[in-house]
Amino acid sequence: MDWGMRNRINRIIKPDTGHTVMLAVDHGYFLGAMNRIEDPAATIKPLIQFCDALMPTRGVLRTSVDPATDTPIVLRVSGGNSIAGPDLANEGITVDFEDAIRLNVAAVALSVYIGTEFENQTLLNLTELVNQGQTFGIPVLAVTAVGKELEKRDARYLKLCCRISAELGAAIVKTYYCEDFEEVVKGCPVPVVIAGGPKLETELDALKMAYDAIDRGAAGVDMGRNIWQSDFPVPMIRAIREVVHKGAKPEEAHELFKQLRSESEKNVDPA
Ligand code: 5RP
Repeated sequence: MDWGMRNRINRIIKPDTGHTVMLAVDHGYFLGAMNRIEDPAATIKPLIQFCDALMPTRGVLRTSVDPATDTPIVLRVSGGNSIAGPDLANEGITVDFEDAIRLNVAAVALSVYIGTEFENQTLLNLTELVNQGQTFGIPVLAVTAVGKELEKRDARYLKLCCRISAELGAAIVKTYYCEDFEEVVKGCPVPVVIAGGPKLETELDALKMAYDAIDRGAAGVDMGRNIWQSDFPVPMIRAIREVVHKGAKPEEAHELFKQLRSESEKNVDPA
């Protein structure tokens, strides 16, 4: 692998732990102004220093992320669908590679929809990006998306999706945590990170999911809602880091979360 490609991957997946905490803030590309990310700049500002990579769209990057940041950017470059439209799987590539380079990205990300009517189209989107990425030394992260069909998230299906994505050249694959997750990782020759999915009932639930994923071989998390939809997003991302990078047990990380939460409550300006 070329130096540039390796360097970009090492900026995302930290070589000292082999793990990564990515923060996904790309949801608006098909879900619009979701709860707690209506003002992306306000959501991102306190969190960006605590993530190893940020995953926005280019619209959010240009409008809402301070260019002084040294956090690597994994740019969402697929879309063209919406929650109001007929089929979430119908995605195309939305960003020219030239613009991704202009934005100094560490990687580009797209969704693939395996087993849908748009399987071929979205897999060819992946190969198009991989070909361009090879030219410029930019890795591609493939998201094994399920759209509205959350029940598809089982090991047999996700193992298929992750392997196909890696076979077609994805450098990192993002998928969902599931029962028998180690089978998904075992079948995938590139690092696997997990999405958080819809907000779980408690922070402890999300910390348990992150712990179980790492324990079963994930390289990290690329989480959104379970961080920024928490009432205490900074304590939450810091607790997630404790699990992902330091191997803390969920209960230990939850203690840290509670401690940071109470400190942040004390610091609230009463005015
Ligand atoms: C949408 C995505 C999102 O980035 C993703 O699902 C991660 O965020 P969350 O943890 O909220 O699920 O890739 O296709």
